[in-house]
Amino acid sequence: MFAFAPAAGLDKADVYKDLVAAALALTEGESDGVANMANCAALIWTCLPDLNWAGFYRLPTGATELVLGPFIGKPACIRIALGSGVCGTAAATRASQCVADVHAFPGHIACDADSRSELVVPVLREGRVIAVIDLDSPLPARFDAEDLAGIEALANAIAARIEL
Ligand code: SME
Repeated sequence: MFAFAPAAGLDKADVYKDLVAAALALTEGESDGVANMANCAALIWTCLPDLNWAGFYRLPTGATELVLGPFIGKPACIRIALGSGVCGTAAATRASQCVADVHAFPGHIACDADSRSELVVPVLREGRVIAVIDLDSPLPARFDAEDLAGIEALANAIAARIEL
């Protein structure tokens, strides 16, 4: 059994430090990318409050659209074209997208009507986007610069362990 929950009272930067360390520990020595993404999605869900969706979209080699990967939350759209929505924009531009109000984001894809804000971070392997990490919240402006830095650190840490 792997029991992990951030200690009460930790500041956000320390929560993310612990989250990254736990993700590395959980995926250590495991070569199955699906298993590793599934555990990382569960870890994010366990560690971070006020989420209604947390998981991965994958970009298989040569593909022109993202494909749904392991996640926690309501069933979601399976394929997202590069450049479409928040996820497709993050993948096409290789730049994280921190969206305070999803209704104001042109082309936002509403998988869960409860979502009000969203953070999407590309996962890069040797310069190529292999996936994005997508977090949705029912709260407006849920994600700040510390969340962005923390999820980017996670993406960087696990990039070599989630490729299929
Ligand atoms: N809102 C995303 C789609 C994925 S769901 O949020 C799970 C987007 O606009 O790309």
